[in-house]
Amino acid sequence: MKVIRGLRGPDKYVSSKYHYDERGSQLFEEITELEEYYLTRTEHAMLEELIPALISELRPATLVELGAGSAEKSRIILSAMIAAREHAVFVPVDVSGDFLRGTAEALRAEYDSLDVYPVVADILDPIALDEALPHPMCLALLGSTLGNFETPHDVGLLRHVSAAMAVDDRFLLGVDLCAGPEKSVDRVEAAYNDSRGTTAQFSLNLLSVLNESFGSDFDLDGFHHRSKYNRELSRIETSLVSLREQVVRFPDEDPIFIAEGEAIRSEISAKYDRRTVEHLFSGAGLVVDQWMTDPDELYALVLGRLSDG
Ligand code: TRP
Repeated sequence: MKVIRGLRGPDKYVSSKYHYDERGSQLFEEITELEEYYLTRTEHAMLEELIPALISELRPATLVELGAGSAEKSRIILSAMIAAREHAVFVPVDVSGDFLRGTAEALRAEYDSLDVYPVVADILDPIALDEALPHPMCLALLGSTLGNFETPHDVGLLRHVSAAMAVDDRFLLGVDLCAGPEKSVDRVEAAYNDSRGTTAQFSLNLLSVLNESFGSDFDLDGFHHRSKYNRELSRIETSLVSLREQVVRFPDEDPIFIAEGEAIRSEISAKYDRRTVEHLFSGAGLVVDQWMTDPDELYALVLGRLSDG
């Protein structure tokens, strides 16, 4: 079993996609509303400000959103699309099937002139889009989700994006920026260590997803959540740290021994600057068309297009 392999070695890790069962997706929505979590709020304000002009210029017919969740931010884009051409197609892609179906239903009820075709998929897989979807298309990856994938998976994802794009299509990427003179490490770390403990619950929920999906017996009280900024790699590293020496069992597998203080890495959240985004894009056949930041330079929205387009 793939998940076990990551737990056997000395550097233990679990794929972050296991955060997102229905409860995990719900907890993540709560994170996005936290005072400390500036990412969603900042991105939202930027979208409100920039999207109307951007969309009336591009006039996309289809929005494909990778990791759509509750599609809160998609609504800003969809409303602008409908305003520009009276009808729009929305293809939300997400791993959490139940959550996605709920989102699709809510959107259909809200908008008359919107077709919604949800796709349940891992966003690291190639993007299989129906040939019949109308262009131009806007593909969106918001919420600094790109930062949750390590190289080469991030480049792989971007290659899938560019493979799905035609010359007139655009890629809208939202990324959190690196800590720097204007943006303290404390501020970034606080976004992942909120005072209400919602992030800790979200983190620990990963273990209950493993228990449910694979029949393991992780004791959620035996771990605590830790998120720290790695300055060298400009990223938040989130782990579940074992509070004691313990044994975890999966059915039909040799037991897994975990030492006191040993960490299981559950997520990375990479932070970016223009140069790192340009570098990633160039590895995927994309170029930066527009680079936009908020006044406090916490966050960036990037508009990309095919480099040979
Ligand atoms: N894309 C989000 C981010 O990297 C995901 C996230 C937010 C997250 N808070 C988290 C992942 C806490 C793990 C732990 O910011």
